[in-house]
Amino acid sequence: MTALVDLPEFAPLHTHAATARQWQLQQLFDADTQRFSHFSLEAAGLFLDFSKNHLTATTLSLLTDLADARHLGARREAMFSGERINTTEHRAVLHTALRLPASASLPLDGHDVVPDIQAVLKQMTQFTEQIRSGSWRGYDGEAITDIVNIGIGGSDLGPAMSCAALRPFTHPRLRLHFLSNVDGHEVDATLHGLRPQTTLFIVASKTFTTQETMLNAQAARTWFLQSGKESDLARHFVAVSTNTAAVKKFGIDTANMFPFWDWVGGRYSVWSAIGLPLALGIGMDHFRDFLAGGHAMDQHFRSAPFGRNMPVLLALIGFWYRQFFGSSSQLIAPYHHDLRLFPSYLQQLEMESNGKRVTTNGAALAGPSAPVIWGSVGTNGQHAYFQLLHQGTDVIPVDFIAALKPAHARSEQQQALLANCFAQSEALMRGKAVSQVKAELQARQMPADDIAALLPHRVFPGNRPSNTLLMQELTPATLGACIALYEHKVFVQGVLWDINSFDQWGVELGKVLASEIMADLRDATTRNTRHDSSTLGLIARARAAQ
Ligand code: F6P
Repeated sequence: MTALVDLPEFAPLHTHAATARQWQLQQLFDADTQRFSHFSLEAAGLFLDFSKNHLTATTLSLLTDLADARHLGARREAMFSGERINTTEHRAVLHTALRLPASASLPLDGHDVVPDIQAVLKQMTQFTEQIRSGSWRGYDGEAITDIVNIGIGGSDLGPAMSCAALRPFTHPRLRLHFLSNVDGHEVDATLHGLRPQTTLFIVASKTFTTQETMLNAQAARTWFLQSGKESDLARHFVAVSTNTAAVKKFGIDTANMFPFWDWVGGRYSVWSAIGLPLALGIGMDHFRDFLAGGHAMDQHFRSAPFGRNMPVLLALIGFWYRQFFGSSSQLIAPYHHDLRLFPSYLQQLEMESNGKRVTTNGAALAGPSAPVIWGSVGTNGQHAYFQLLHQGTDVIPVDFIAALKPAHARSEQQQALLANCFAQSEALMRGKAVSQVKAELQARQMPADDIAALLPHRVFPGNRPSNTLLMQELTPATLGACIALYEHKVFVQGVLWDINSFDQWGVELGKVLASEIMADLRDATTRNTRHDSSTLGLIARARAAQ
């Protein structure tokens, strides 16, 4: 495939960007009184205002030309129809199939995957009903009260984020816990206060070989067996995996295993049985609403013209700043407590997908790929790092996310929350000019010398871009749409950069070295000379402390 910078559609964008970098956002608003309606749209229950960005209709047209040149339409169809677009692992990428209606069909290698998906949803329905109704009993006859999901990465972040997001929908008897890190402190903190007879463990791992998950699952088993018996394990341990043999070997009855498939990437797996904690928490009707929300966004993504296509626009805007404005990070700022884990979720989704240095055919990328994704909830961020956004030297695009109707009755808090959210995007754009600061200080009768000294510190350059994503309410459907929106954003950016967004070879090296070092830590007599002196020194200090 032609390198991005060599595409005929790239040069006009490059030239246009040189002009766009000189624009003042405020002037774009002054020039077009309808800018808000021109640069906003609604899809699948979400509303995106992207007017506070350095772009015009010309910018969008040049960017969509580039998307066309990358055959975005055909690549999108290749994903939806099950082509093996994950070329380095020879796999289809079909998380979208997980949210298809039961009446659909989708053949993969001549086999319709929809009945398989529906069969697992049925298995999940039976199980969730038993747990939620209390008819599934622990070993001493009590109903389950606590569910611990043991998994990491995509086997943790999706369910943990969604369970937090849909807290108001959760069954009142059930408490959901997430144990991910291979850290005994986290194991202790999670198990503290739990009663084995009323606790259900879900061991969630696509591969069922991940070190962290396997060690933590063993620790949970040992903890359980201090009170329960081997024969009780089946009532307290279930698995979600693609690896039946490994589940069996671990000692979990495969009748209690919820399968999924290699065409579901870990970071795209919350829609599969990996979403079991969410399904247990909110019930299957709501879980199906969550899938339907994702599917509504799929339909929009698949059919809307690029210039009115929410995931495409989000991707093009992010690409615009990364490629032409040198923005190396992107802030995700949900103004909603229940979305507090959304930035971490997107961190894996975007950085593990598009944090790549070569194109699909292995050539080194000539420019950047994914930015650093980071963030936390507003207003907390305002009192921590927003200073840098307003007056720091980097331009960091922000996605503000908010729900207009809260799940509580505290209207003053809700108004204050939204007011702060909207105020930040306005302040980032507007800034505060020298003349404004001067006038304010003069009005306070400040001496001219003091004003001159203070002036540079009190000026805000402004002109800093943001998107605002609104939903009426945070519900299973709007959450589903929101996740699918970002999934497709990642896909589109991967197409623009011509990278494989669906592998993650970069995590392998550390895993291999960790198991080598673990052997070194266990066996005080070995001295692995393959390590550098720093690593050897650290190992020696750890050994001495054991
Ligand atoms: O760290 C890499 C990774 O493979 C992620 O992509 C994945 O979500 C995570 O590990 C967990 O993998 P598994 O579900 O196989 O335990």
